[in-house]
Amino acid sequence: MAGILDGKVALITGAGSGIGQATSRIFAREGAKLALADVVEEGGNQTLKMVQDLGANAIFVKCDVSKMERRRRGGRQGGRHLRAARLCLQ
Ligand SMILES: NC(=O)c1ccc[n+]([C@@H]2O[C@H](COP(=O)([O-])OP(=O)(O)OC[C@H]3O[C@@H](n4cnc5c(N)ncnc54)[C@H](O)[C@@H]3O)[C@@H](O)[C@H]2O)c1
Repeated sequence: MAGILDGKVALITGAGSGIGQATSRIFAREGAKLALADVVEEGGNQTLKMVQDLGANAIFVKCDVSKMERRRRGGRQGGRHLRAARLCLQ
């Protein structure tokens, strides 16, 4: 059955616990591809396994979103989430 997020890519910050983890699971069930970000590696990897078990195409990136935000402000407009994810991977 098609999900309402099929074909969408989502960056979820704070994905390692709480609201971020719950959102990750819901988005996975609805078919989104996920870039999970959290400053705590253990929680991020736990969520990654959860969403992969649900069938999602997902990656986990350990990063501090407060630093992402500082870098984003200095960047160009547009493509905000994808650029933020790329910056974390550097
Ligand atoms: N407005 C409301 O009614 C309401 C209700 C609940 C929660 N909140 C807020 O929503 C947010 C999330 O709540 P929660 O219960 O899911 O919290 P949580 O503490 O369970 O989850 C936060 C996650 O973010 C990660 N994180 C923290 N700082 C980070 C950083 N700089 N970079 C990357 N990852 C980071 C943590 O490692 C953790 O996994 C909190 O700020 C909370 O205060 C608001």
